[in-house]
Amino acid sequence: MQFKKGIDEKIKKAAEIIKSGGVVAFPTETVYGLGANAYDEQAVKKIFELKGRPQDNPLIVHISKKQDVYIVAREIPEKAKVLIGEFWPGPLTLVLPKNPSIPDIVTAGLDTVAVRMPDHPIALKLIRLSGVPIAAPSANISGKPSATQPEHIKKYFGEKVFLIEGKVKIGIESTVLDLTEDVPKILRPGAITKEMIERKIGKVELVEYKKADFIPKSPGLKYRHYTPDAELILILRKDKMINFIKENRRNWEEKGKKVCVFFFREKPKKFESSPNIKVSISGRSLREFAKNLFKILIEEGEKYDILIFEGVDERGIGLGIMNRLKKAARRIIR
Ligand code: TXA
Ligand code: MG
Repeated sequence: MQFKKGIDEKIKKAAEIIKSGGVVAFPTETVYGLGANAYDEQAVKKIFELKGRPQDNPLIVHISKKQDVYIVAREIPEKAKVLIGEFWPGPLTLVLPKNPSIPDIVTAGLDTVAVRMPDHPIALKLIRLSGVPIAAPSANISGKPSATQPEHIKKYFGEKVFLIEGKVKIGIESTVLDLTEDVPKILRPGAITKEMIERKIGKVELVEYKKADFIPKSPGLKYRHYTPDAELILILRKDKMINFIKENRRNWEEKGKKVCVFFFREKPKKFESSPNIKVSISGRSLREFAKNLFKILIEEGEKYDILIFEGVDERGIGLGIMNRLKKAARRIIR
């Protein structure tokens, strides 16, 4: 793989930092990760501190070759083998029985471990040169939207972490699939969709965010997530969205609230921006929406008081988009 000038040097330097117990930010195909040597408890502890992440929320272990799943997990069920063959490297994280070599701090004391092989040349080379699996959550302050651009890393961490810059192509985090039960469970939907997984291994269940609040199967499910600086309102239907804006327009203008409205695919006809209210689109396809989502939450969230999104069908990657929007929303209008 040929990298842009200077990138090779940066990857080498980052690998040295990982080997000596430090933390680095690096691109993956989904979002940026904040990585450390998965075998080094002190290094992993730094990740939790930098993010302000609760200690009971485990991290994903990243590997650079498929067979390394055996050094991270204790058992690889048949269904896992099928999915690894099909979707790795790629945005699919598997929860498997933990190998004792992985320290408890990585898995928050659970007997299971989340593992994935990212599909990004920089991430893969970094892991390879480091010579160890890399524990890495998304590179954001806990509770904030995940970073998809180098500027987001600088906003969150300033100069505190060494950064390798690179492009992210998906924009939402990997699908997390728990394979430790008879019927596999999707703990977090992403670009590898329920439909794609079921085609390969049969029935899987989706853990509903609400239910997960009561039985936190994946600790990450119980925390508030992705909250932008602005108030986020999610409206499931276009007609309701148009009415809501018409009804509130005057009020927002009087109060001097700056509002940005995101329609999916196209703006309705005769729906113009005004000085306080900008009308925009979230994406022309679900893929594009996913790629734009966190960038909008972070960058437009700084500029506006209110962000309003039109919901999308909860199918394919639309399920992953809606999962993030629902968690980020202050208010949902059905
Ligand atoms: O795309 C991604 O997955 C990105 C990139 C950097 O790889 N990483 C990422 O990590 O999103 P993080 O830490 O932000 O999200 C990991 C999710 C959390 O919801 C966590 O609770 C869950 O995976 N998780 C980790 N280990 C688990 C385990 N043993 N059992 C159940 N859930 C687990
Ligand atoms: Mg995260």
